[in-house]
Amino acid sequence: MRKVYIDESAAYVGQSVVVEGWVTHYRSSGKIHFVVIRDGSGVLQCVIKSANMPVEGIGQFSELNQETAVRVTGVLHADSRAPIGVELEVQSLQVIGPSANYPIAPKEHGVDFLLDHRHLWVRSPKQAAILRIRAAIIHAIREFLDRHGFIVADPPVITPAAAEGSTTLFSLDYFDERAYLSQSGQLYLEALAMALGRVYSFGPTFRAEKSKTRRHLMEFWMVEPEMAFCEFEENLIWQEQLVAYVVEYVLETRQQELKTIERDTLRLRTVKVPFPRISYDEALERLQAKGFDLKWGEDMGAAHETALAEMFDRPVFVTHYPADLKAFYMQPDPSNPKLALAADMLAPEGYGEIVGGSQRIHNLELLEERMRRHHLDPEVYNWYADLRRYGCVPHSGFGLGLERVVAWICGLEHVRETIPFPRTLNRVWP
Ligand code: 4AD
Ligand code: MG
Repeated sequence: MRKVYIDESAAYVGQSVVVEGWVTHYRSSGKIHFVVIRDGSGVLQCVIKSANMPVEGIGQFSELNQETAVRVTGVLHADSRAPIGVELEVQSLQVIGPSANYPIAPKEHGVDFLLDHRHLWVRSPKQAAILRIRAAIIHAIREFLDRHGFIVADPPVITPAAAEGSTTLFSLDYFDERAYLSQSGQLYLEALAMALGRVYSFGPTFRAEKSKTRRHLMEFWMVEPEMAFCEFEENLIWQEQLVAYVVEYVLETRQQELKTIERDTLRLRTVKVPFPRISYDEALERLQAKGFDLKWGEDMGAAHETALAEMFDRPVFVTHYPADLKAFYMQPDPSNPKLALAADMLAPEGYGEIVGGSQRIHNLELLEERMRRHHLDPEVYNWYADLRRYGCVPHSGFGLGLERVVAWICGLEHVRETIPFPRTLNRVWP
């Protein structure tokens, strides 16, 4: 007998098949019993018409509790009322794994309860839909970069020094030395770009952020492209092309999931290149005109980013930040060295910074000066400075935070639902 996944079952109408999955609902109306099962690919209604049907593993149908794992054999019938256009008439049913008193009933639970049961919560339709959209976003990112000649290259996760400032490092004992979990693979990617031209990494990064906000995780996934012979403007073009492609791909391939999570997709359809670009100075003017009391040299907070993003119908780049607000490796603007050739991409609808990038310093003396200003130990970064000693070229790159992009595309309140097992300020469990 052919085993089919629910999302392909419409192709087997009229045939006898086996479907394996978990019970989401059971109800009986007299002699007829209805069992709805899901298998990860879709949801299928199964109808039991005969009370004498062979059943293995349980005493009676009413034991088909939520999350009971079953193997069902039967004939697929076309049914225009069913969401996937087919229904299964059951011939035999076998319980593979019983389930009793499943703690997450289809009713409202508090978020702490749900997070304590995250290992089960991931089975609920909305959470599963989000994870399927996350997978599509990962696929689209890789596809875009692979297709454009970027070589995936994997920087280490265990590192000897900070890439993005020493205040958010997670440290660990590395035998007799101190080591840290990577905040960003960028410094290594710069080395790899000099070997391979265009490279990217895609993996978990770690920040001991003492911030309990809806945008911060302690462990999050970042894609980091890095390009040799690439200056500031070209870097922005890569970023907007990538983000526009990802949105288009999700709209095309994840209609069903977007519907399940009730996402208003009109707000996503306007995400087309080019994205607007405004300088930090212009952002400041716009914010001051809205009544914000933000002075030159101060960093923008969530409220500022939200207000700015509201002025546009697609993501917006804020460029040319004061250099002192940004990381040590950023190239100063040649026409005003107080500014960095850096840009943040702010997402619409209050999701804040989803991408941060810059042109990198390629001159040795300048890099050494910036390292001194940031009190960095030249010994520790000597290998990084080496890149400026041997054929260094203008190069640029960026980091896109996967969970923030998933939160924005899915329209979620908080990043904790965008990753299978979130690590937040107060939670490293389950
Ligand atoms: O702006 P960030 O700190 O940039 C870097 O790490 C650069 N080295 C990247 C590069 O140029 N290769 O982080 C990049 C992005 C942010 O725009 C944000 O989307 C995400 O990573 N991000 C976080 N996401 C979730 N939780 C956190 N704590 C995050 N911190 C940064
Ligand atoms: Mg940033």
